[in-house]
Amino acid sequence: MRNITIENITDAVIKSMDSDIPARNMEIMKAALKHVHEFMKEVNLTYDEWLEAMEWMRRAGEISSDARNEFILISDIIGVEVLADMLDKKPTHNETISTVLGPFYRENPPVLPKGASIIQKDFEGQETVRVSGTIRDTDGNPVPGVTMDVWEDAPNGLYEQQDPDQPDFNLRGRFLTDENGEYEFVAIRPVPYPIPYDGAAGELLKYMGHHPWRPGHVHFMIMKDGYKTLISQIYDSTTEYLDNDSVFAVKEDLIGEMKPAPEGADTDMVMTFDFVIRDNALIESVAAE
Ligand code: BEZ
Ligand code: FE
Repeated sequence: MRNITIENITDAVIKSMDSDIPARNMEIMKAALKHVHEFMKEVNLTYDEWLEAMEWMRRAGEISSDARNEFILISDIIGVEVLADMLDKKPTHNETISTVLGPFYRENPPVLPKGASIIQKDFEGQETVRVSGTIRDTDGNPVPGVTMDVWEDAPNGLYEQQDPDQPDFNLRGRFLTDENGEYEFVAIRPVPYPIPYDGAAGELLKYMGHHPWRPGHVHFMIMKDGYKTLISQIYDSTTEYLDNDSVFAVKEDLIGEMKPAPEGADTDMVMTFDFVIRDNALIESVAAE
């Protein structure tokens, strides 16, 4: 097509696509092109601003590796990971709400017995917490044999893979619910930490005038055949940044209360938090409606 103008550029790009591409590709590309072009026109983007953005993206690519996906961090600080999660995992029943996975999950953490500690290294001033609860289905029946992966940062604000001074898989564990659907483990009271801001994501945070901090939380991935996997986090009700999380992942229902442990207990604090998971048959019945 010749004589491309500000007015016809969007149509020209849309028409350049093969109409035989999958319908979903077409839907996504049409909407993306429309919005990107509209956004450029709305802000009257200058050529230098475009070039600056391209260079910033190059830097995001450069700092990314198998261990670090800068694009996920960027999507986090503009609310895109949490929006994808909310769109894709809308609760259909009374199941526990999900939130972002984040970049620090590791597969196959140490398998530990109910009640065991995930702490492999002590930190000065740390507070320990015994976390326990029941996992139920949406009808309120306890679900035995549920796999629960948990992970959290250390009191220095670092996950073990960010910190050469922590043992491999420190503050990570895989637990199973017992015959009553109950789980239990010992952890460290999680502290706020900054998401990595030494790369392109940090540049964007500075551009936006936002800080990189997340409130203290423990991550959970809850899995059982026949049930929808639940990826979520519990937030300490007293932690800072609950109202200005750098990645917008806090939900009221995910705030847990840590209480001082009873006399003679082997941890400083205790916290009870129950989860509800939904079975796939329910998801399919909602989809069919
Ligand atoms: C996290 O909770 O681990 C996390 C989430 C998004 C970005 C960075 C970290
Ligand atoms: Fe985290």
